[in-house]
Amino acid sequence: MPTFNVDLGARSYPIHIGSGLLQQPQLLRDAIPGRSAVIVSNETVAPLYLQTVRTHLGGLHVGEIVLPDGEAYKNLDTLNSIFTRLLEQRFDRNTTLIALGGGVVGDITGFAAASYQRGVHFVQIPTTLLAQVDSSVGGKTGVNHPLGKNMIGAFHQPRAVIIDTDTLDTLPGRELSAGLAEVIKYGLLGDAEFFAWLEQNIDRLRARDPAALAYAIERSCRDKAAIVAEDEREHGTRALLNLGHTFGHAIETGLGYGRWLHGEAVACGMLMAARMSERLGWLDAGSVRRAEKLLLAAELPTVPPAELSGARMRELMAVDKKVIDGSLRLVLLRGIGSAVVTADFDPAALDFILERD
Ligand code: NAD
Ligand code: GLY
Repeated sequence: MPTFNVDLGARSYPIHIGSGLLQQPQLLRDAIPGRSAVIVSNETVAPLYLQTVRTHLGGLHVGEIVLPDGEAYKNLDTLNSIFTRLLEQRFDRNTTLIALGGGVVGDITGFAAASYQRGVHFVQIPTTLLAQVDSSVGGKTGVNHPLGKNMIGAFHQPRAVIIDTDTLDTLPGRELSAGLAEVIKYGLLGDAEFFAWLEQNIDRLRARDPAALAYAIERSCRDKAAIVAEDEREHGTRALLNLGHTFGHAIETGLGYGRWLHGEAVACGMLMAARMSERLGWLDAGSVRRAEKLLLAAELPTVPPAELSGARMRELMAVDKKVIDGSLRLVLLRGIGSAVVTADFDPAALDFILERD
């Protein structure tokens, strides 16, 4: 079982990855400092895994909060319902919230933990591939606003991330593909060797080969942990992790949350970023083709939805968190494994991408 740390000084925490980890109570108990814990999950994941997690919490004051399932519920109303339950059941400042689910449960539980009584502990038990390789690591938490994706939130690091790869057995195929988008992201933005490995192994990943999945999860988490350790609050390098996200968030918000999965929107966004980089003369056509081929092999979309006009996409992109002092910054590519974040691009290249697709 690989275990390694996200190095953040006194707030460092372990990421445990392996098969059968939900059967190892000590991993969870070690991450709970107080006498109370609340498992937050959703109506799809709770019937599958909540009781197993609960059996590890003997002797503690334990609560369960089961949310409705879906990106459409990642909002302030749901957040408030969590606060109400915590207050009704008198959970105090030394409580640990345990996020059991995908990125939606993880992001909203993390934000609840960041703000309940000015901050309580939390642990991530991610159960989708996307959450295992990305959202459970690094402490970004939050909810959506009707006007913009992830616009309300906080940085709040978990005390541990426990990744039981067996939970992927129950994950629908479309969700597995969405997770692969974030895996491919690490290769594209900064790990050319991993990208080449993904090209060789994409069929094994789609077929859920356990060894291939375990390797991809570990490599992704190690890549992300290194970036977060270097730039926790996204003053520099961490912004590269948003490759494809400015385009992707516009697609998610524009279509209505939940129509396209987050990973699908990111996949399409990454290819738009690659095509724009090609238009700028920064990326060769062969690299764009490699990116497109890998995304298609992962059964991910590479063309934005026809119903979103270029003008609407541009309007939505203007609400992105990477807009600073009115200037839109994008993550673009100078090669496979070499991304840059910049506002210094010819706007005609962006027009070309938005109008053409
Ligand atoms: P999700 O949380 O909606 O989960 C996808 C679906 O799979 C849901 O229906 C869920 O109930 C179901 N599910 C989860 N685990 C399952 C399992 N083991 N078996 C069967 N079904 C299961 O979506 P997601 O893709 O995990 O996460 C997307 C969210 O993550 C977005 O809101 C995105 O903004 C956020 N995100 C956050 C970060 C971050 O750094 N905080 C990074 C990337 C994405
Ligand atoms: N998913 C982007 C980040 O964690 O910074």
